[in-house]
Amino acid sequence: MAKEFFEALKSRRSIYGIGKDVSVNEAKIQEIVEDAVKYTPTSFNSQTSRAVVLFGEQHDKVWDITLAELKKVAASEEAFAATTDKINSFKSGYGTILFFEDQDIVKNLQNQFALYADNFPIWADQSSGMLQLVVWTALHDEGLGATLQHYNPLIDAGVQEAWNLPSSWKLRAQMPFGSPLAPAGEKAFQPVEERVKVFK
Ligand SMILES: Cc1cc2nc3c(=O)[nH]c(=O)nc-3n(C[C@H](O)[C@H](O)[C@H](O)COP(=O)(O)O)c2cc1C
Repeated sequence: MAKEFFEALKSRRSIYGIGKDVSVNEAKIQEIVEDAVKYTPTSFNSQTSRAVVLFGEQHDKVWDITLAELKKVAASEEAFAATTDKINSFKSGYGTILFFEDQDIVKNLQNQFALYADNFPIWADQSSGMLQLVVWTALHDEGLGATLQHYNPLIDAGVQEAWNLPSSWKLRAQMPFGSPLAPAGEKAFQPVEERVKVFK
């Protein structure tokens, strides 16, 4: 990372307006995701996290699947028109990263360590969240804009089928990214003293 860790963390934002004018090459983006998957910690070093990186027509496909599923549940034509604009704004980007957690590993851990059985699905999701932040921050540090989206579980079956993914891979989040077209909106912060207590 060119910037120091906290500089990168502080500058990461949700960037909704994204385009295809990206100078970072696909191999670099792949490397970011591979390193993030490899080095982000997981409970018991169980390595439950999975990712799928989509470029070009493959990226388009995930948003076509999403729109088709949303159409089935749209409340009205007007509502679907607004939804279509939103989905097209993600499709306008350069690529999408899909984040999964492998439930076969979670189930094995539950069988192996009954005492923690309830915790393993939670820990898997926490690991996924850590991974998502690492990828999000690293993409931002490369000058890319990204957001975090959750059309799961609506699109789970379509995604699994489209890329012939193992049925144990549970979709947790989608991260469309691309060249930033507009800055992030204002962000308010609660006083951090009210959120962090220190005792010494
Ligand atoms: C766990 C989690 C879930 C989120 N889900 C969504 C989502 O489904 N759609 C979306 O547009 N943004 C989503 N966000 C983005 C947040 O709204 C955003 O990070 C927050 O408002 C702070 O803004 P910032 O990312 O610009 O710092 C999510 C963020 C987190 C951490």
